[in-house]
Amino acid sequence: MKKTEEADLSRIIGALGSGSTVSGQRLGGELGVSRAALWKKINSLRAKGYEIRAVPGKGYRLVFAPEFSSEGIRSLLKAGKGREILFLQKTKSTNELAMEIASGGAPHGSVVIADSQTGGKGRLGRKWHSPPGVNVYMSVILRPELPPRQAALLTLLSAVSSANALRKASGLEVAIKWPNDLIVGGRKLGGILLEMRSEPDRIIHAVVGIGINVNESRFPAELAETATSVFKETGSRLRRTDVAAHVVNELDAWLSVMKEKGGQAVIDEWKRLDETLGRQVRVVSGGETLAGLAEDIDGEGRLVVRTQEGKTRLISSGDVWPLRPPHSS
Ligand code: BTN
Repeated sequence: MKKTEEADLSRIIGALGSGSTVSGQRLGGELGVSRAALWKKINSLRAKGYEIRAVPGKGYRLVFAPEFSSEGIRSLLKAGKGREILFLQKTKSTNELAMEIASGGAPHGSVVIADSQTGGKGRLGRKWHSPPGVNVYMSVILRPELPPRQAALLTLLSAVSSANALRKASGLEVAIKWPNDLIVGGRKLGGILLEMRSEPDRIIHAVVGIGINVNESRFPAELAETATSVFKETGSRLRRTDVAAHVVNELDAWLSVMKEKGGQAVIDEWKRLDETLGRQVRVVSGGETLAGLAEDIDGEGRLVVRTQEGKTRLISSGDVWPLRPPHSS
């Protein structure tokens, strides 16, 4: 679908979103299209599953909107105009597709989002459980002015944005476990996978892939002990459209903060949401296991661990498990 057509459909959904009846004259006027053209657009939305009633003499009223759609997401974005949003029912991996279209020149801020993934990727070569109809799988293309050695800042920024988006959308106290796990009650609600193409001194493009367990009610046995979803935690289902839009709005906001105030502002917010620092942890990194106090993260997003032998180690990738509850020494 052409970008302008998609933008028009999103504007109609935005205008009708409150549930009130809006006159055809006003809608047509806002879009700058004739009554006949508006009618065609309303019918395109109906074909996509929107139920829009024509109320004689009054206008149009939105009666039902699909729970997950690109028009719905765009209509909720603070900067939705002109943004590329590629919405798919099924794809292998939104990260893989986003990396492909980024190589083809897709602009900063483009979003690839899917209802399900057949080859969802997690960190460290793991698989990401991606069934249809329940969760959010999305990837955002970034073209940041950062040297590759600061790429980890983008992971921290994405974790901060996703945690804050989920806090706003669900009311849950979502925390972050280094480097990028979204955690509630010790279980994993979501994760982030950063991939990028770079030259020695600049990132050409980066893709942040975000997976969030939203409405899943039963996880497969191998995840049952470690994973959770918003639905499992609150007993309520969220509209995935709202969750995805919150994430993109927060990402935009935190990218602006980083541009204006620098990476330290992102690190400070990460520390506010973090549940790793100040705890005794076990770290598995590059085939090595060590234990110690998670003291800090440095300006490049590395975890600073004071080992039991009293040495300071900087960890750039791996898994971290807390050994005891916080502040019990
Ligand atoms: C992790 O291991 O915690 C990271 C998980 C990242 C999963 C997301 S889902 C959307 C995007 N596409 C992928 O294939 N992976 C990321």
